[in-house]
Amino acid sequence: MELSKVQELLASLTIEEKIGQLIQLNGSFFEEQEEVVTGPMQELGIHQKDIQLAGSILNTVGAKKVKNIQRKYLEQSKKKIPLLFMADIINGYKTTFPIPLGLGCSFDTEMIQDIARIAAQEAATAGIAVTFSPMVDLVRDARWGRVMESFGEDTYLNCQYAKAMVKGYQGKLDEKNNIACCVKHFAGYGAPIGGRDYNSVDMNERTLFQAYLPVYQAAIEAGCEMVMTSFNTIDQIPVTANYKLLHTVLREQWKFRGVVISDYSEIKELIAHGIAEDEKEAAYLAMHAGCDIDMMTSVYVKHLKSLIEEKVLDIQVIDDAVRRVLELKNKLGLFENPYRGADEQLEKERELCCDYRHKARESVQKSCVLLKNNQQLLPLKKDKKIALIGPYSMSKQLNGMWSIYADEKETASVYEGIINHRGIAECAIGAKVLEECAGNQLGLPISQDLEFDEKRELENAIEIAKKAEVIVLALGEHPYQSGEGGSRAELSISDSQLGLLKQMKAIHKPIVVLMFSGRPLDLKIIEENCTALIQCWFPGVEGGNGIADLLFGEANFSARLSMSFPYSVGQCPVYYNHDQTGRPVESVGINRFTSRYLDVPNQPLYCFGYGLSYSIFEYGSIHLDKKYLTKNTFIKASVKVKNISNVKGEETVQLYIRDLKGSVVRPVKELKGIAKITLEPKEEKEVTFKITEEMLRFYTISMTYESEEGSFEVMIGSNSETYNKALFVLQK
Ligand code: BGC
Repeated sequence: MELSKVQELLASLTIEEKIGQLIQLNGSFFEEQEEVVTGPMQELGIHQKDIQLAGSILNTVGAKKVKNIQRKYLEQSKKKIPLLFMADIINGYKTTFPIPLGLGCSFDTEMIQDIARIAAQEAATAGIAVTFSPMVDLVRDARWGRVMESFGEDTYLNCQYAKAMVKGYQGKLDEKNNIACCVKHFAGYGAPIGGRDYNSVDMNERTLFQAYLPVYQAAIEAGCEMVMTSFNTIDQIPVTANYKLLHTVLREQWKFRGVVISDYSEIKELIAHGIAEDEKEAAYLAMHAGCDIDMMTSVYVKHLKSLIEEKVLDIQVIDDAVRRVLELKNKLGLFENPYRGADEQLEKERELCCDYRHKARESVQKSCVLLKNNQQLLPLKKDKKIALIGPYSMSKQLNGMWSIYADEKETASVYEGIINHRGIAECAIGAKVLEECAGNQLGLPISQDLEFDEKRELENAIEIAKKAEVIVLALGEHPYQSGEGGSRAELSISDSQLGLLKQMKAIHKPIVVLMFSGRPLDLKIIEENCTALIQCWFPGVEGGNGIADLLFGEANFSARLSMSFPYSVGQCPVYYNHDQTGRPVESVGINRFTSRYLDVPNQPLYCFGYGLSYSIFEYGSIHLDKKYLTKNTFIKASVKVKNISNVKGEETVQLYIRDLKGSVVRPVKELKGIAKITLEPKEEKEVTFKITEEMLRFYTISMTYESEEGSFEVMIGSNSETYNKALFVLQK
């Protein structure tokens, strides 16, 4: 409907109806509509009349169910404002793709946009109108379990992905195949102290603005309709009550016009944070700061009205929030068609259809990272006698913690992937993913096989391995060891699996390790004991097939790490674009009084941007077309890249820049460009990047975003540790 009609509708609402639009509840409230107040309603202190006015609903999916709830809701609704259905569609809906951290390794924004579009199409037919994605929190500490939901540690790369996701999900919003998206978790949620989930964030303002905020901003500039606040504090103020972030930065500086929603029960948590005396004060703080929707508490419903009557809050603040919600419903076309994309027939046709599965398989090929390949063990010849061993050999738990709608039965295990390629595979589980006590610690129901006889399993594995020519060992952490609430202080795999690795090593056959995890684990011991190593993440529904394509060389590796793998947990947080210190070990040489550890190197085990391929790429030196850059010119930086192998492959050429002197300390390097090229055997291509003044801007000593004159180093290579360098000067 026309915008003026939205205004008229708003003006016609009672205060209770307005507040209703600012409440989000989960499906259980609506399915129990005819009941008296029990269960979740009672716990939350919510009444039937509140539910009848609630504006949105979370994590209820399925065309039939959504339509039923919507129909019943509208039947009793006086003003006929449809419910808005929102859900966590993170790495796909039914067709699951690799977890975002895996997708981040593709360095392929086009593919990521396609994946978001598929997720939107599939979810839209199941009645979803908004997804709580993209999650764009920058991550530098592998102890934090939610690194799996992020695209990694780099600001530039994450900005590209954020834009691609928004475009993919939203397209044109009035088209019912598209869904609106909600960027989260604003802001800085990826940097909790010690990697412990929900912990405080302690970050200086410059780092926040320079490294963390640009990614949320990129999503908003791409048109993202919603923002979710984060659980953490910034500057000792919980974000959900942080006026500076929600109002000054988001609304005034970034001109964000969409809806802001709290994270789950976050508004009430302002009391536990110790900044609100009671629920009423929590409601005031969040609404005043700019949080429009209260997700899963009754704080707004119980207290906003009296806050207005007592003139503590101005009604205009509520009206603005409600208008934003109504405008979003209008943009989605809900007033014309409250059921929107929900369609039982299409839902069936689209779910896990061939095209989507095909894309999922391609995304596995492009997300698995080849970390080691000694003696060119890989690709495996199809007639090689393989022993497939390990808890992930036959496991279908490959979708990652946030794939809440995935059906594991539909997921291709590694075993099935290998069978699909060559018909046979000898297989044994050999070890447990979790120790007994770790299973209890997860706080989530997990199915441990009680019948599992570890000794017999191990013997079986040894017997099979002895008869084989090569051992493929599928190891990893449990999917629930990462994700929300999945922080870990030790980044290892279970002792049972380490024992299995030792036994396999003793057989003296080449070992390929397939590593499944939601984060960079400490892989030192594993790396030392295997011949080849593939980081598979949680690869989604086509996991086993995509991995088998790579194992047998039907696809080539092209993924590069988007997050550093620590050499030891003690290095965390470890990331490539750290600030320069006054005593850098690199320039002074090994000396006690330099910035280093006595017992481990400063470098991670595998750096950002690293990844091998079946092809071998050789880089020429960098050629700059000029040495001086000004505001209105640009420098062309070129490099020749040659595929010196006999295998066609894709290379991700990476451009880094280092500011040699600034008014504040600058990072040792920053990614500023990527180019993906495909090279036939022996083919050479020249890759050219444009370097502009804009790429050199940062928050200077006066907190102005600008560039400063001086010398810069440009580096172009295949990962963040490249030594291929040239110098240029910026003149103003
Ligand atoms: C998570 C969010 C998620 C929300 C709704 C919260 O616990 O932090 O990322 O979108 O739940 O499911």
